[in-house]
Amino acid sequence: MSRIVSVGLASILDSRARTTVEATVTLESGTRGRAGAPSGASTGAHEVLAFPRGGVPEAIRTFRERVAPALLGVDIADRTGIDERLHAVDGTPDFSRIGGNTATAVSVATALALGAETGRPLWKVIARPSVDGTKFPAIVGNCLNGGVHAIGGPDIQEFIAFSESPRPEDAVRAAVRVHGLIGEELRHRFPKAALGRGDEGGWVAPLGNVDAVSLLSEVCARVRDETHLPVHPGLDLAASEFYRDGRYVYKEQTLDPEGQVGFVADLVDRFGLRYVEDPLDQEAFDDFAELTRQVGDRAEIVGDDLYVTNAARLAQGIARRSTNSVLIKVNQVGTLTDTLRTVDEARDHGLSTITSHRSGEVPEGWLAHVALGTGARGLKCGVLGGERVAKLNELLRLGRATGD
Ligand code: PGA
Ligand code: ZN
Repeated sequence: MSRIVSVGLASILDSRARTTVEATVTLESGTRGRAGAPSGASTGAHEVLAFPRGGVPEAIRTFRERVAPALLGVDIADRTGIDERLHAVDGTPDFSRIGGNTATAVSVATALALGAETGRPLWKVIARPSVDGTKFPAIVGNCLNGGVHAIGGPDIQEFIAFSESPRPEDAVRAAVRVHGLIGEELRHRFPKAALGRGDEGGWVAPLGNVDAVSLLSEVCARVRDETHLPVHPGLDLAASEFYRDGRYVYKEQTLDPEGQVGFVADLVDRFGLRYVEDPLDQEAFDDFAELTRQVGDRAEIVGDDLYVTNAARLAQGIARRSTNSVLIKVNQVGTLTDTLRTVDEARDHGLSTITSHRSGEVPEGWLAHVALGTGARGLKCGVLGGERVAKLNELLRLGRATGD
C-alpha cells in the first residue's frame, strides 16, 4: 500500500490556549491524515509524559531529529509497526524522550491516513472483533465542574449526565438538556453571582459536594420525566486530587478510606448514581474493589487515574476485581496500539470501557470514532464548548451514517 512520504509535527493551541502538538502525515498517493493531541490537568501519576522536559519546542525538535526519519517510507498499512517504531525511537517506558502527545498525534494521524487511503472511517480502521458500528455509546457529559478544573466550585471534579439512549441524537439531547437546566437552576439560586464554566464546559457555582449531587440528580429526574429518555446522574470524583496522607480531605469533611467507600456508596443509593469515576486514590486497588462489591451491580465504577489506560495496571485491577469499567484516554498511554491492547484486555474480562476526552482538548472529532470502534459503553466528552461539541457532532454524523 501507499508509503509515508512526509510527516510533520507543529505547535497548536488546546482549549485552555496551552500549546500542544498536531501531526500531519502525507502518503505517496497524496492522501493526508492530521490529528492533534489533548492535555490533562488532573493527570494520573502513572501516565506517560505528554511532552519531554523541554515542552513542545523540545517535542518538535526531537520529532525532526528522531521520529520523522524513522517513519519515512513506512507502509501506511502497517499500523502496529508504526506505533512500535514510536516506542523504539523513544526507548523509555513513559515516552519521556519523544513525548506521549507526539505519539498520540502521529498514531491517530497515521490511522486517519490509512482510513482515507482505504475509504474507511477511522472507527472501522480500529474496530475490535465483533464491533459492527451499530451500538452507540452513552454520552458521559460533564455538567457541573469542581476540583482542579474550576476555581470556587465543589471538591468533586465532575457532576455528570450519564445519558444512555441507544440513538446518538437522543443521548446528546438529554445530556444537553441536563446541562441547560442546571444553568437555569443556578441562575435562579444565585441571581447575583457571576456564574462561570470550568475547563470542560460544566457550570461552576459555590455549591457544596452533596448539594451539587442533589441538584444534578433532581435535574436528571426532571429531564427523564420530560423526555422519557434514560439519563442518570454520575460523578468523576478525581479523588487522588484531594487524597492527603491516607485521608480524603474535602472542604466539608475528612474521611479515611473506609469512610470514603461508605460516603460514595451512600451517594450511589441516595441519588441513583449510575456512573462513578475515580472515587478513591489512584493506588487504592482494594478499596475500589470494596466499593465495586457494594454497588457495582447498579453503577459503572470506572478507573481513570487508577489505570491510566495501561494494560498492566488494568490487569492488576482485574485480578483484584477493583472496578467493572475502565476509562480510555489515548494520550495517557501514548499510541492507539497501546490503547487497543487495554481495550481488548477490558473486553476479554467483561469490563466496560469509557472513551474519554481530556480537560485541555483540541476541536477535533476523532475521539467519537475511537468510542464507536472499540464498542465503548460511553463517550465522555463534555457537553459545551466547540472542542467538546466537535466530538458530539461527529457521533451524530456517525449515527446518521448508520441510520442511512
Ligand atoms: P484531565 O482530567 O483531562 O484534566 O486529566 C479529566 C478526568 O479526570 O477525567
Ligand atoms: Zn477522571
